[in-house]
Amino acid sequence: MPGRVQGKVAVITGGASGIGRATGFLFGEHGAIVVIADIDKEAAIETAKEINSLGALAIGVGLDVTKESDIKDVFESAAKEFGTISILVNSAGLNPRLPSLAGKTSEEIWDKVIDVNLKGTYLACKNVVDIMAKGGGGSIINLSSIMGMVGYNSVMSNGLSPYNPSKAGVLLLTKNLAVALAPKNIRVNCLNPGFVETPFTETLTSDAELYDNLVKLHPIGRFARPEEIAYCALFLASDESSFVTGAPLLVDGGYTAQ
Ligand SMILES: NC(=O)c1ccc[n+]([C@@H]2O[C@H](COP(=O)([O-])OP(=O)(O)OC[C@H]3O[C@@H](n4cnc5c(N)ncnc54)[C@H](O)[C@@H]3O)[C@@H](O)[C@H]2O)c1
Repeated sequence: MPGRVQGKVAVITGGASGIGRATGFLFGEHGAIVVIADIDKEAAIETAKEINSLGALAIGVGLDVTKESDIKDVFESAAKEFGTISILVNSAGLNPRLPSLAGKTSEEIWDKVIDVNLKGTYLACKNVVDIMAKGGGGSIINLSSIMGMVGYNSVMSNGLSPYNPSKAGVLLLTKNLAVALAPKNIRVNCLNPGFVETPFTETLTSDAELYDNLVKLHPIGRFARPEEIAYCALFLASDESSFVTGAPLLVDGGYTAQ
């Protein structure tokens, strides 16, 4: 039986960890040719090797989503090698709690988070359009968040976090693009996960009291597993979602239903 994204070429930014990584494995399992693109080049290559060892075709490449030249290089090489790009998953993302942002001032953190999460998504979308259109169309899946729809719980922020504004920006970028690109047969949707067990949330899950409080905010009573987000990406990437565009898909264990 053919896979749900059989023969499609998928580029996944931030594909070396967490949600992007789980999506790479699932897309590979369902017949896609997978390009794992991440600022951590070694981890991208290693992830692709692991996907290959399961019998799927994957390559790993280094790419910084804030650098348009990196994006152009990766997208042009992928289109040259595999014919087109039919799926783009924008999973590269940062969050103010990451150790890589430690020691920076609030304004530097603001700029960095907006740069990677919002501008990085914009640059990747912008540079995939012509390739996808030339190939007959495609599906773009952006990683927004429930934090792009509601504010942080007061334990999480003093109100000045750039994370929610970056993710709200991704949601509206998604809607704008969906409208503009529909005539080119390119669908654009976003995923809005609740908290997910990935390296991204390690600083939360390692604090027992905070973790417990955050778990309680999800009526399902736990954080998501990365695979649970990847299955939603698979639906949006496949032709099963052929009439879905401009949609934020909530995957939040009921967090925002309350
Ligand atoms: N984990 C969660 O709870 C959660 C919830 C909602 C939304 N999200 C979003 O989902 C996406 C993936 O999150 P995750 O939990 O898998 O995180 P993660 O930290 O496990 O993975 C993110 C990946 O992005 C890469 N990356 C960071 N900056 C980059 C850059 N400039 N260029 C290219 N790659 C870069 C990292 O190297 C890493 O491999 C993020 O956009 C995040 O905001 C996560």
